[in-house]
Amino acid sequence: MKKRIVLIIVLILICSCFINLLYLSYAKMNTIGIESDITGKGLNNEEYIYKEDLLHLNYKIDEIEIISKKISETDVKKYLLTKKYNDLIQFIACPYFNIENIERYQNYKDNTDYSTDETVMNVEIGIDNNFYTNIIKTDTSKNELMLVNKYHILDKEYSPTLVSVDSKYGSGIADKTAYEYFKKMVDAAKKDNINLYSVSFYRSYDNQNTLYNRYVKRDGVKEADTYSARPGHSEHQTGLSVDINTSARSSKFEKTKEYEWLISNSYKYGFILRYPENKSYITGYIYEPWHYRYVGIENAMIIFQEQLTYEEYYVKYVK
Ligand code: DAL
Ligand code: ZN
Repeated sequence: MKKRIVLIIVLILICSCFINLLYLSYAKMNTIGIESDITGKGLNNEEYIYKEDLLHLNYKIDEIEIISKKISETDVKKYLLTKKYNDLIQFIACPYFNIENIERYQNYKDNTDYSTDETVMNVEIGIDNNFYTNIIKTDTSKNELMLVNKYHILDKEYSPTLVSVDSKYGSGIADKTAYEYFKKMVDAAKKDNINLYSVSFYRSYDNQNTLYNRYVKRDGVKEADTYSARPGHSEHQTGLSVDINTSARSSKFEKTKEYEWLISNSYKYGFILRYPENKSYITGYIYEPWHYRYVGIENAMIIFQEQLTYEEYYVKYVK
């Protein structure tokens, strides 16, 4: 009798273990089932593991679906699995999103009041870093679309194909193509009784060095940096930029009819106002109503229509 009771108890224990095992394996299969539903395709083991890790980081199922569609598995492992990014899904929706900069987007977003779109744009421009830090070489192969600013530097030796500016058009030397279009612009302005002339076109690295250091001596580094580029960082070294009629900061060029003409017509000849008002936080320079940059007619037209700085245009259409 005693033996029979013991046998029954053992049988009950075995059965309950078996039922437990069956239940656990069913539960596991069920989770995989949910995960399979995420992508609508079968999951290999690794995929399953990375998605489960994202779940552990508190991403929601529908967010994981978006992540897996927009970010490669390698990048998920490289950039996401160690940390949750609160605004990741909004960042992904931005047109210039680049997963490599996710940490910078989140830091910048957490410390500023910019929208997610602005955050992504500003980080792609580089302005989450201080000016004159994280400097990279200008890609001069982009020719009239090359970007030179406080984050992009030209080699000391860089120089374009230069031609002399005829005294009829002002003074200096210039990039051959930019000069060709500058002449067309000056000739067109003349027909409207507007007199334009170049006061400064191409400046070599050494010229800019002398100029910048003269300003630093006069006004100090902080002030000089607001209106003069450090050597290697001036667009004038590309030969594509021209100061028109005046370069004196106090001249109020923006009040002249020459300026009015330029602001409405320069894009037709491929020139843009390079340092517009209220955009110093992007360009790094005060408003320079006299400084125009040749970028080609098609590009200038878009920049004019969309009212972009060249930095924004570069991220949107060139980079
Ligand atoms: N004034 C402009 C920023 C230059 O020095 O190139
Ligand atoms: Zn200039």
